[in-house]
Amino acid sequence: MADYSMLVQKAYEAQKRSYCPYSHWAVGAALLTKEGRIYLGCNIENNTFTPTVCAERVAFFKAVFEGERDFVAIAIVGNGADSPIQDGDICPPCGVCRQVMTEFCSPDFEIVLGSHGGKYEVHTLKELMPVVSLPLKQ
Ligand code: THU
Repeated sequence: MADYSMLVQKAYEAQKRSYCPYSHWAVGAALLTKEGRIYLGCNIENNTFTPTVCAERVAFFKAVFEGERDFVAIAIVGNGADSPIQDGDICPPCGVCRQVMTEFCSPDFEIVLGSHGGKYEVHTLKELMPVVSLPLKQ
């Protein structure tokens, strides 16, 4: 399995950009393309709540806007700082972000969930989204 330590580190850098005055739950994401480019995202909240967008979607939409279509993995972190989740906890993507991933990624796209001390666990998109409305890209 690939070493995703650097990608997790990038997700922590992205987390610093989080705008989360309502939940205080800072999330960062780092999306890796097949060519080795990395797109960062953080969650951006809103005082009417529903316009809030997750870190993962910010990373995806930045990349797609730039013309990227081939993705290998995304690292996600949501622990630390004022986060309501504990320091050792992972931050799995929400259902909406998983749905966005199915639009652009193959079943073996890797979702890297970082926690403290550089630790992480890796899941495939197929594992986290086994039944989808569109067949996943092959
Ligand atoms: N959030 C993310 O950005 N990604 C996730 O995977 C889980 C949740 C954000 C949305 C909101 O700003 C805050 O975390 C609390 O749900």
